[in-house]
Amino acid sequence: MAVKVVETSMRDGHQSLLATRMTTEEILSIIPDLDQAGFYALEVWGGATFDACLRFLNEDPWERLRQIKKLAPNTKLQMLFRGQNILGYRHYADDIVDKFVQKSLENGIDIIRVFDALNDIRNLKSAVDATKKYGGHCQIALCYTTSPIHTVDYFVNLAKEVELMGADSLCIKDMAGILLPEAAYELITRLKKQTKLPINLHSHATAGVIDATYLKAIEAGVDIIDTALSPLSGGTSQPATEAFQYMLENSKDDPKLNIKALDQAAIKLTFIKDKYLANGILNPKALTSNPNILKYQVPGGMLSNLMSQLKEQDAMKDYEKVLHEIPIVRKDMGYPPLVTPLSQMVGTQAVMNVISGSPYKIVPKEIKEYLKGLYGKAPGKVNDLVLAKIIGHEQVITHRPADDIKPEFENLKKKYKDFARSDEDLLSIALFDTVAIDFLKLKYQDAPAPEVIEFNIKIGGNS
Ligand code: CO
Repeated sequence: MAVKVVETSMRDGHQSLLATRMTTEEILSIIPDLDQAGFYALEVWGGATFDACLRFLNEDPWERLRQIKKLAPNTKLQMLFRGQNILGYRHYADDIVDKFVQKSLENGIDIIRVFDALNDIRNLKSAVDATKKYGGHCQIALCYTTSPIHTVDYFVNLAKEVELMGADSLCIKDMAGILLPEAAYELITRLKKQTKLPINLHSHATAGVIDATYLKAIEAGVDIIDTALSPLSGGTSQPATEAFQYMLENSKDDPKLNIKALDQAAIKLTFIKDKYLANGILNPKALTSNPNILKYQVPGGMLSNLMSQLKEQDAMKDYEKVLHEIPIVRKDMGYPPLVTPLSQMVGTQAVMNVISGSPYKIVPKEIKEYLKGLYGKAPGKVNDLVLAKIIGHEQVITHRPADDIKPEFENLKKKYKDFARSDEDLLSIALFDTVAIDFLKLKYQDAPAPEVIEFNIKIGGNS
């Protein structure tokens, strides 16, 4: 069966290689060609793209989405959604999740890919329910990682659970690019056998093994693959879209992409890429394979973060020690996948353990909150001694963290009634707070004052 292809250059591609700095104008210049290419979907929106619009580009991310939609009438648009974190970094109330899903679909998104850093499916539930409620396609992504907990059985069991939750498709999200060809073959084969869900593979070229991994996944019957147009492919990004069209052409898996349209898009995207290479945003190092990530099992981004943390503390001599400490900390924490924000948290703890010379003498606030259950359930068993040392007699919650968060939307509406002009503005503020407020101040500075409407508000009540 023809393999379906999701084009990622307008989200993960420039997030991985260009610090998410492509402007709406640059993106819109490529979209009409991509829309003619025959993709299953274009991934165009997510946490970092939204954040970078407000923080660095002085652009409205909602406006970007609406404009992309206008120029892509033939292709579904996809976004990446961090479960109860939505596009931000903390857990939000269910009413914010619901409203964000509703407005994303209204403004042009068709497929919402939802994941949770810990694969705690309780943290996916409200996003999944909202996507179904407002008629979107809900894809649940499971973060891929390796550990004694993360066996093929573990992923198959989770897949069965997300199928019951009402997911329309399943994604294996290998954010670190550590899925090897044989492991992919085994995993996809089992998933195809034991669920009815279409399976999507998302990985990164970081380790230099990705093309082989994708081909084995295709051999095992994967339905959808994520690739990036060649100028923004390779290295820490996805493998090249055009390469897969050439590799699979005239086979039973032929994705039947329109090479002419891809070439047109690639020519334009090469000019854009060259600009970022010249101004230093694209670091050529990000384009080189780094098979060491397979040895350490940590994402490439985490390795470079570690190096800069150690350089700052003048402790580069401890680099090897920290690399050995990471798996120990990860085991103590119950083997969380090393994805944002857990990768930064585990990395920082490992650095502190090594530099202070005494494990868990210094502990970041986030690690403490994680151990108290505020991020959700750890995948495996947390080390009891470490737990006792860090949180003492403080309470550990076993329920879903968002159960403790009261509805937020109506309060925001009241608080910003003279300022925000739409629910979309309010959602930007809900997620990015002062960054969004500063952006909106600039956007509206010369515009006439908004019309003020009275709302009947019950503080803390359901909306
Ligand atoms: Co990715």
